[in-house]
Parts: sequence; structure tokens; C-alpha cells
Amino acid sequence: MEDEIINSVITIVGSINYDLVTYISSIPDAGETKQSNSFETHFGGKGLNQAISTSKLIPRLEKTRIKIQMCGNVGDDSFGMDLEKYLVKNTINIENVKNLTGTNTGVAVIIVEEDSNGENRILITPGANAKTLPTNEEYEKLFNITDKDIKQYVILQNETPNTVETINWLHTNRPNINIIYNPSPFIDLPSEIYKKIDVLVVNETEALMSANDMLKDEKLRDFKEEIAKDKISGFHKLATTLRQLINLDKLNLVIITLGSTGSLYSSKESGDDLKFFKSNKIPKDKVKDTTGAGDTFLGAIVSQLSLGNSIDSAMKFAIYASSLTVQKKGAAETIPVYEDVAKLLKD
Ligand code: ATP
Ligand code: RIB
Repeated sequence: MEDEIINSVITIVGSINYDLVTYISSIPDAGETKQSNSFETHFGGKGLNQAISTSKLIPRLEKTRIKIQMCGNVGDDSFGMDLEKYLVKNTINIENVKNLTGTNTGVAVIIVEEDSNGENRILITPGANAKTLPTNEEYEKLFNITDKDIKQYVILQNETPNTVETINWLHTNRPNINIIYNPSPFIDLPSEIYKKIDVLVVNETEALMSANDMLKDEKLRDFKEEIAKDKISGFHKLATTLRQLINLDKLNLVIITLGSTGSLYSSKESGDDLKFFKSNKIPKDKVKDTTGAGDTFLGAIVSQLSLGNSIDSAMKFAIYASSLTVQKKGAAETIPVYEDVAKLLKD
């Protein structure tokens, strides 16, 4: 890929996991042993899934113009090797993925309850992910493109321990880069860190937990009551309020995903207008595994923004993309390619 023709760079700093997935009709009680329906291994980790989603959801003809790079760690085991190969196969630059000697690759043990709409339960052993702590020199190398005409996005989640450091480093050293933050799994952050975030993407639980970090108890109680009365309008009001508490200067966008219900956003342009998008209705027996639905959604949004599309069309595209992911088993491998989503949107 020639640097001269690049007009966007998307960097994903985050986890790289090997997913060990057991599919079962319903989970056993404590002390109970059950036979599962099947077992599969998949490529995963929120960081890797979001990188794969971003890359797969860029149209084939645009791929040379958008550089996608991953920063993270794997261990020196066969899982790590397979994951690195998978990233490369999906045209993701891995110059900043370290292979750590004597360390295990991160592993996620996942139980998918097939009779419960493909709901999952996940246990992560971070392994090499826990050592993702880039130094200043490594940040300089990762974010070495300083040409302001090149649009840049960074995607962060919380399966690696460096979120706050990365946000602070970028805010100080690369203020033009758009920071997209997905607080999953949730950790408390001080409000001055939220002020440095340009796009916040949260599910229902994370939305309330972020609100808990940023709002006074009394105000949060009011939102919970509004949500109990009218889920969509309540979460929309919450998104509008959270938006005032993140960076007001750049994209200033809050997206809340509501699983099979849909998703909504609040942006500078939308102001107080309700921007809700219904999820694609999928028959219950077709929902196989929801693992990676949120990651697909987020990757779709960022790839669409990098292509210069509006937030409305990005949301629609993300809904279609994630509706395809939940109909297959696994995480990264089930993320559709741009052309499949475009076809579905046309039909
Ligand atoms: P996960 O942790 O399972 O990856 P999440 O909790 O981060 O997901 P969700 O809000 O559950 O995020 O889902 C993200 C998006 O995926 C939704 O906005 C929706 O578009 C799509 N989606 C999820 N579940 C379903 C479903 N059962 N049917 C259709 N679309 C779905
Ligand atoms: O978001 C889904 C991912 O969460 C899985 O792939 C698993 O690795 C966990 O990190």
C-alpha cells in the first residue's frame, strides 16, 4: 500500500483473543453437568473484531485509500500465529502487533445459549493483551502520519489496560485524530477523560454505567425512570446529555445500541431530534450467536465515516451489517464484507 494515495487511517488499539466457544441449549446450574451441542474455535477479541469489521466493511475498490492498522499483543503460541495471519489476510497492517515471548495469547471462553436468542457469557484470560502498554516512542511510530489532510480515527475499548494513557497521549500529541471509545468491558473513567472522546459507542448497560460516571445520582435516577417509561425516548435523552459531556469540538457523537430493538444517536447536527433506527427483524431461530454484533456495528460506523458518508446512512449500514453477524456462529469470521451488506440494503 503506497502512502501517497492514502486519505484515511483507522487505528485499532485493543485486544486480540482466541475464542473457545461452546454452544448449548441452556446453561447448566451450579454443580450441574450438561452435554453441549457443539464446540468451535473462532478469532476474536474486541480489538481484533473491530479491526476486521472496519476492514471487511470498506468497499473492495476503496481499500487502497484507507489504511487500517492494529496495535496489540499476542503470545508466542499457535493461537497468536493464527490470529496474526488472519489480520494480515484481512489487509490489516500488523507492524504494531507484538508477539511476546513466553506469554500466552489472550483467550475467551464463551458459552452461547442457543435457546436464548444466541446470548453469550464470556470469560477472558487476557494473556498478552494485559501487556499492551505502548511507550511514547511506540505511540510516535503508530501515529506517524501527521498530514492534516488525511482523516484519522482511533478505536479503543477496555480489554487492554492502556485506554486512558492512549486518550491522553492522542489529546496532547495528535489533537486532529478522532477518538472513538467503546467502554467494553466497562471501567470507571474520570469526567476529564470523557471530555477528550469524540465518539462514544455504548450498549444499554454501558450507556447507564457511563452516565453513572458522568452524571449526578439524582439526574441518573430521572433517566432510569424515563427509560422505564419509554425506552427509546429515554435512551435518546440520555445520549443527548452524554454528548454534552464528551469533546464538543469535533465529531461529538454518542451512539447507543439497543440489541434487537435497534440503535440511536445524538450528534451536534441532530441536536434534540430523535434519531432512532430499528434493528432488522430476524426470526428467533435464525439468531445463532450474538458475539461480535456490537463490534461489527462499531466497525461499520467507523468505516462509513471514513468513506465520508452521513451518520444516518452509517447507522443504517451498521444495522444491516450486524444483523448478518448474529445469524452465524463466531465473532470475526461472521462479519460480512461491504458488498454483502450493500446487496442486502438494495434488496
Ligand atoms: P455484543 O456484546 O453481543 O457484541 P453489544 O451488547 O455491544 O453486542 P448490542 O446492542 O447487543 O451490542 O448489538 C449491537 C447491534 O447489533 C444492535 O444495534 C443491532 O443492530 C444488532 N443486533 C444485535 N442483536 C440483534 C438481534 N437479535 N437481531 C437483530 N440485530 C441485532
Ligand atoms: O465482543 C466479542 C468479543 O469479546 C469476543 O470475540 C471475545 O474475544 C471477547 O473479547
